[in-house]
Amino acid sequence: MKVKVTKEIEDMIEQTIKQLGLSPKLEAATLYTLKLPGKRLRPRFVMASARDFDVDENIAIKVACATEMMHAGSLIHDDLPAIDNDDYRRGQPSNHMIFGEDVAIMAGDLLFSVAGYICAESKNNDVIKAFTQTLIELVDGETRDIIMSKKGYEPSESEILQMYRGKTGALFAFSFSFGPMMAGLDPSSYKEAGYEFGTYFQIQDDILDVTATFEQIGKTPKKDIVENKATIVKIMGIDKAQKLAEDTRSMILSKINKGFLYDEIKEMLFSQIT
Ligand code: IPE
Ligand code: IPE
Ligand code: MG
Ligand code: MG
Ligand code: MG
Repeated sequence: MKVKVTKEIEDMIEQTIKQLGLSPKLEAATLYTLKLPGKRLRPRFVMASARDFDVDENIAIKVACATEMMHAGSLIHDDLPAIDNDDYRRGQPSNHMIFGEDVAIMAGDLLFSVAGYICAESKNNDVIKAFTQTLIELVDGETRDIIMSKKGYEPSESEILQMYRGKTGALFAFSFSFGPMMAGLDPSSYKEAGYEFGTYFQIQDDILDVTATFEQIGKTPKKDIVENKATIVKIMGIDKAQKLAEDTRSMILSKINKGFLYDEIKEMLFSQIT
């Protein structure tokens, strides 16, 4: 049976934002990126992890919303002219292209804060702390990316992989380990699997930047090259990057017990990511 991430989660995200009584422009900007079609991977993993450890579904749905909100906030900021300068996201103009840079910055800030607020409804200190730590790692990873993408900087493979663990891996690590954390179990192998999944996923994203079309990825192709982004593809080429992704992939599932999360991850790992 497939995990449920669907209308219920989409509706809760929308209701949560609408209840805040925001200025109309900030509400519109925030809902714009949230409602664009994304893969909703992080909430899917949260729901699957919750189901494997018998977590109350009402709590899991809230935390699933929180992960999608943090993710959307990171995408809005990531696309800004000062960062990746990308005009498209999820097949549509980026947030700042519609609402302006000033409001897009605020929408990202708002999403980070509302994500924390809704995650706190888990009433589980370990979960709340881990979620906060996730944003710290994500922001640090994005900053490492910014620094390594400056002209003249020659990043090493290990610096790039460390940056991937932060900017992409941390939120998957949280999503995978949500179930064990709620059950009071040691989440470390699930967490590590999440970091490895993030690394695999980011390498694939970097390869797709070079090989895919706008229709496939919904963002500007070859943008990493134009913007001199520090990627693993830039330093080792596509073939070696693909090999590294495959080596990483083989380690991920060995860290997860068979169940809903295992099946979700497996499906992702062996399907084309676009
Ligand atoms: C995009 O994430 C950012 C990266 C970590 C590469 P996704 O590829 O999950 O984006 P959406 O949510 O499907 O748009
Ligand atoms: C991941 O890196 C960005 C975030 C974690 C926000 P990218 O900059 O490669 O993501 P895309 O390609 O813009 O989605
Ligand atoms: Mg980026
Ligand atoms: Mg980007
Ligand atoms: Mg990318």
